[in-house]
Amino acid sequence: MIKTQVLILDFGSQYTQLLARRVREANVYTEVLSFDVSCDKIKKYPNLKAIILSGGPASVYLKDAYQIDEAILDLPVAILGVCYGMQLLTNHFQGKVELANKQEFGKSTLYIDQPDNKLFTNIVNKSEVWMSHADHVTKIPKNFIEIAHSDNAMAAFAHLTRPIYGIQFHAEVTHSEYGKEIIANFLFAIANCTKDWGLDDFITNQIEAIKNEVQNKQVILGLSGGLDSSVAAAIIAKAIGKQLTCIFVDTGLLRKNEAIAVMKTYQENFTLNLVMIDASKQFFAALKGVKNPEEKRKIIGKQFIDVFTTAAKKIKTAKFLAQGTIYPDIIESSSKDATSKTIKTHHNVGGLPDDLQFKLLEPLKTLFKDEVRAIGLQLGLPETLINRHPFPGPGLGVRVIEEVTKEKCLILQEVDDIFISKLKAHNLYHKVSQAFATLLPVKTVGVMGDNRTYDYVVSLRSVSTIDFMTATSSHLPWDFLDEVANEIINKVSAVNRVVYDITSKPPGTIEWE
Ligand code: XMP
Repeated sequence: MIKTQVLILDFGSQYTQLLARRVREANVYTEVLSFDVSCDKIKKYPNLKAIILSGGPASVYLKDAYQIDEAILDLPVAILGVCYGMQLLTNHFQGKVELANKQEFGKSTLYIDQPDNKLFTNIVNKSEVWMSHADHVTKIPKNFIEIAHSDNAMAAFAHLTRPIYGIQFHAEVTHSEYGKEIIANFLFAIANCTKDWGLDDFITNQIEAIKNEVQNKQVILGLSGGLDSSVAAAIIAKAIGKQLTCIFVDTGLLRKNEAIAVMKTYQENFTLNLVMIDASKQFFAALKGVKNPEEKRKIIGKQFIDVFTTAAKKIKTAKFLAQGTIYPDIIESSSKDATSKTIKTHHNVGGLPDDLQFKLLEPLKTLFKDEVRAIGLQLGLPETLINRHPFPGPGLGVRVIEEVTKEKCLILQEVDDIFISKLKAHNLYHKVSQAFATLLPVKTVGVMGDNRTYDYVVSLRSVSTIDFMTATSSHLPWDFLDEVANEIINKVSAVNRVVYDITSKPPGTIEWE
């Protein structure tokens, strides 16, 4: 039984999920809620010990800045404001926040002024922290004292009598030398949290919960071959075995031999019913003549849902639909950041029609990606499945630029297979986060032997990233790229030119479409 709950109110910082990770790593259960949650909703958490106010891009002094239900700040729990969160506290408790003359972005030095403060137990007086702010506190709020500063700003303050703290720096970012310790001090020395969140009990509890919920009914699940749906399938299969039917749709947009490999993995590792549907003809027909990336994504998503629902309806006794939804999916789809824009429409088994009449079963919905990976390993999923690079839902549909045809997918599958096999052979696959090839809608002139060629260009892309929100291109060895390019041109007759994409994200995205 979880005795401690911590809530993080999200003001739109790119680091909010990192904050949640740090709290969970300290073995404390946390959830991220949108900043505009009501105090009444928060009061329903029976074991709430602390609230953390995240950073965010807004300026607290502007008219339309994000505000919270102020009653939240009167709750008898510990409060930590981080960056924008600190500025929000300042505003509320009658201090002042202004645009700084010297704004701080990146590494900064933290000087602790009150070393005896509980927030700084066992932390040296001078250390490195990560700052990212244009505004800063210029007048300390009533009944607070400054407990740390940086070269240009008030870096931390504490309420004189209540457990309320503000930090201007991002303790959740690994560049903050003692960030982990500061968060732990807040959780344990100030908020009196207990360490009672861990993955060990998670599997046992979930299996019990799934058995209780499903009873003797049937469950269906759409398998993609990716991590989340596989781990969901594994944990449900452990609970109810053959009452689970997994449906795997071969869209024709998968990697070379992927459909066969995925089926083999599941058959070897699980006791469950597994159905594969070859829907490739249907997908290619729907994509004929379509060039626009968003339109292609929508078509692929709709086809997927059509094929899946038709298959699901045939399993008459199925009452539950299982999905590999994980916590970031929920946070991302619930936080309403007024400034956020749709860059790409992501299609997973998300948008199922309302009339499907299934109850949802989402056993991983409180977990982060690396927690899902850890659970997968504990459940005995093969390492090759757990640590494979991500593959987008629309697959090669967004890696064949412009019109997608079966012929182009076959070319791309060969190119991609050479690139990935070589990365594995050279022990580079696990050193990069995601690698793949893209087929461009361009033909160029080349010469092979004594003949002129006029064939396709492919781009190779490999990125390093922690969270896939930002990424840099991998510095793959030149000799290696040379070897890959040569093999592609020699073995894939439709391709006569290979380029390497060195764009980082932002400004580029990882996929080309
Ligand atoms: P971008 O291209 O947006 O990709 O920088 C970030 C990460 O997401 C993957 N991706 C998708 N994954 N459905 C998915 O499940 C999608 O529609 C989708 N589009 C992109 C991409 O491969 C990268 O890992």
